[in-house]
Amino acid sequence: MQKSLLASLLLLGLTSAQIDPRPIPTFTINLDLPPRARFTEPTKHFAEGIITVLEWYEKNLIQYLVPENLGVMLDYSFWYNHREYYLEMEGIAQTVGIDTKRIVIANFAYELVAYCTSVLAKQKDGLIMHLRLYDFLAADITKNITYIADYQKGGKTVFRAVMNGGTNFFPTGMKDGAFSITLNQRNALNHSQPEFFVNLGLISLGVKQTVIKLREALQQCEDYTCALNLLSNDKIITGGYYILAGAKGDEAVVISRNRDGPANVTQISEEHWYVVQTNDDHFAGVCRERCTAARANFEKLGRDNLSVQKAFEQILMVEPNLNAGSIYGIKMVPSSNHPSDM
Ligand SMILES: *[C@@H]1O[C@H](CO)[C@@H](O)[C@H](O)[C@H]1NC(C)=O
Ligand SMILES: *[C@@H]1O[C@H](CO)[C@@H](O)[C@H](O)[C@H]1NC(C)=O
Ligand SMILES: *[C@@H]1O[C@H](CO)[C@@H](O)[C@H](O)[C@H]1NC(C)=O
Ligand SMILES: *[C@@H]1O[C@H](CO)[C@@H](O)[C@H](O)[C@H]1NC(C)=O
Repeated sequence: MQKSLLASLLLLGLTSAQIDPRPIPTFTINLDLPPRARFTEPTKHFAEGIITVLEWYEKNLIQYLVPENLGVMLDYSFWYNHREYYLEMEGIAQTVGIDTKRIVIANFAYELVAYCTSVLAKQKDGLIMHLRLYDFLAADITKNITYIADYQKGGKTVFRAVMNGGTNFFPTGMKDGAFSITLNQRNALNHSQPEFFVNLGLISLGVKQTVIKLREALQQCEDYTCALNLLSNDKIITGGYYILAGAKGDEAVVISRNRDGPANVTQISEEHWYVVQTNDDHFAGVCRERCTAARANFEKLGRDNLSVQKAFEQILMVEPNLNAGSIYGIKMVPSSNHPSDM
């Protein structure tokens, strides 16, 4: 683990919001390998847990959301439009010994249900921090298949991500010395019937999921500006919030996304030294329980006292931000040349 990813990753949860820290394994994902072979190692390691989580999804979510014939369409569409990623999924499915379609469908369902807190803040000395608490369904079994992926090319790290076994996408990643990105789900967008069919139409046209864009930004961009453009402007299937931190200046933004472009871009500044993003349209004045609590805790801590560790402990690791659905918390500081205060 390199110094810029302040890596103490806590796996949290249980029925009340208690902290349950556990070591988290790291696996190398070699992008030079053929797609089918890239995820073999973590998939083997977590095979049993992957099946447990997949079965939970199918029983509690997928059977209501995705009728059989729709599943076939999603599978075909993914194969047709995103071949390389499809082959990665095929490799994962073969390693655990199941039909690839189940992995593809689980990846789509996954986009609908993530509730999280992401915060950006700038210390007085200019250090930019990006902290994230990740909440999801089936927290207790999902914690068991959580790992850090070190994506490499030519034997060198390209970026790192926090992953769950059984998928090739993720909502949290960082490129050392350059930028970090998290994705939070946007509740304000309506998963009503007409919307659902627009989503389906876009899926069949090959428009990308929010998580695919996130991975592409880390894979294709060398710097913050490139990531900012890609995450702000590329078409995506549903909206979402991309939280992006850079390594210098005021490089820290929350990009609230509609399908075709940004609904709002809010940047950090000297006066506006932190931004909190949960799952509400902060720019439209919506700030419910977890958002209100996080803002109040930032004000209580105060900028003079701000440090990565204090922000983590006093803003994220407290209820209601910390809750029974919390799976992991992570601190990211993209500027690798900055002395860490950890
Ligand atoms: C998590 O994994 C461990 C060992 O792999 C297992 O003993 C435990 O039952 C699992 N927990 C859940 C909630 O599945
Ligand atoms: C969601 O859709 C329902 C029914 O179409 C509508 O009544 C509701 O106002 C919508 N909510 C938002 C936030 O657009
Ligand atoms: C984004 O929202 C903020 C309020 O949080 C507002 O001040 C700003 O003008 C908005 N920016 C854009 C580009 O819409
Ligand atoms: C902030 O720092 C001051 C003194 O440096 C201290 O008295 C106060 O308790 C700190 N507040 C928090 C919330 O850590």
